[in-house]
Amino acid sequence: MKTIDFIKSMMNPFKFYSDKEGSKEADLQKIAAQEQKQFSYETLIKATDKFHSSNKLGEGGFGPVFKGKLLDGREVAVKMLSQHSRQGQKEFVNEAKLLARVQHRNVVNLLGYCTHGEDKLLVYEYVSHESVDKLLFKPDKRQQLDWKKRYEVIAGVAKGLLYLHEDSHSCIIHRDIKASNILLDDKWIPKIADFGMARLFPEDQTHVNTRVAGTNGYMAPEYVMHGHLSVKADVFSFGVLILELISGQRNSSYNLSLDAQNLLDWAYKLFKKSRSLEVLDQSIKSTADEDQVALCVQIGLLCTQSDPNLRPSMRRVVVLLSRKPTSLEEPTRPGFPGSRYRRSRNPGGSSSHTASSGASSTTRTDHTSSTMSVTNTTTHTARSLGSDPRGKRPMQPSE
Ligand SMILES: Nc1ncnc2c1ncn2[C@@H]1O[C@H](COP(=O)(O)OP(=O)(O)O)[C@@H](O)[C@H]1O
Ligand SMILES: [Mg+2]
Repeated sequence: MKTIDFIKSMMNPFKFYSDKEGSKEADLQKIAAQEQKQFSYETLIKATDKFHSSNKLGEGGFGPVFKGKLLDGREVAVKMLSQHSRQGQKEFVNEAKLLARVQHRNVVNLLGYCTHGEDKLLVYEYVSHESVDKLLFKPDKRQQLDWKKRYEVIAGVAKGLLYLHEDSHSCIIHRDIKASNILLDDKWIPKIADFGMARLFPEDQTHVNTRVAGTNGYMAPEYVMHGHLSVKADVFSFGVLILELISGQRNSSYNLSLDAQNLLDWAYKLFKKSRSLEVLDQSIKSTADEDQVALCVQIGLLCTQSDPNLRPSMRRVVVLLSRKPTSLEEPTRPGFPGSRYRRSRNPGGSSSHTASSGASSTTRTDHTSSTMSVTNTTTHTARSLGSDPRGKRPMQPSE
């Protein structure tokens, strides 16, 4: 008996040692997979309870999104990319790895990716208050987003977009800035979701996928009508988002006034009559800082100007939001699909610039050519496209 115990005790350390080796190996493999940002399909099946419908958070143009919980307790949002991503596996993995390096306080963190047969999945951190649209456009919930929170959303998204445009490893044009792509965390910090879709769903010149090209009501006219995609298209969408946040109204289902064509036009007309404060959602009026509201209306209008060259860069927007400008240029009429613009030939001619030095040159910086090459996204005219039940059809020029 004693001898057996002795032998056992002699063996145990070895057994223990070899187990430890085994688990060390497994740990190393895990760490390597994590470094690669790769998730196994089984992990995601477990996390989402087999992609159970009760875990579905929503479905946009790229496919359904499920809430999940990893074994270590982390909550995630798993996006199953729909098949119309015609990108090969290798390109997808390369892009996903690149996008997983994008890190900013105001951008949703991409934890990793997964490929399984034909399926491609992206794994994001779960953002607890979900998207801005789920509060802003709901009459019983919109007051939860008081002015301070809305202002923080505007300022945070501006910083996130600036990072994507100028400060991340390569210029990332978002292409689909809208209320449902702005998520709010437990401290109400806004985070931009779905960045990089322009890279994961590159458009080729013969095929424009209407569902992924952008969303009705947010797309810059030059992009809808001529396929010109630049950082200024994001600036336009951001301007629409600002005016939606202030007014609590969706641009795409605008019906506030008979003598305005859309939310932008309505805001512009009020601005011209020095009645910007009337753009504000009356249900949060008591919480508002009037100077900030007026400033945001003006910035929203500057961002949605018809001529992309007149729209400010995101860097300038961030500067404008961070200090009280003494004077800001007058916006020209907003653009919408079908509207025409004339490029201003005289850099000083169109507005009364008295803003800070360098402002006018930044305003007129045209990033079009440089960003086109980085993102490799060239879209030709979207006019011939049919209607789309999800409302992601680019607007017809006559609309
Ligand atoms: N990381 C996330 N955390 C929490 N909710 C998310 C996350 N990503 C997406 N969602 C939710 O899933 C919904 C569907 O997302 P998506 O497929 O991108 O469609 P869309 O943005 O067009 O609404 C979003 O509206 C959002 O509420
Ligand atoms: Mg989205």
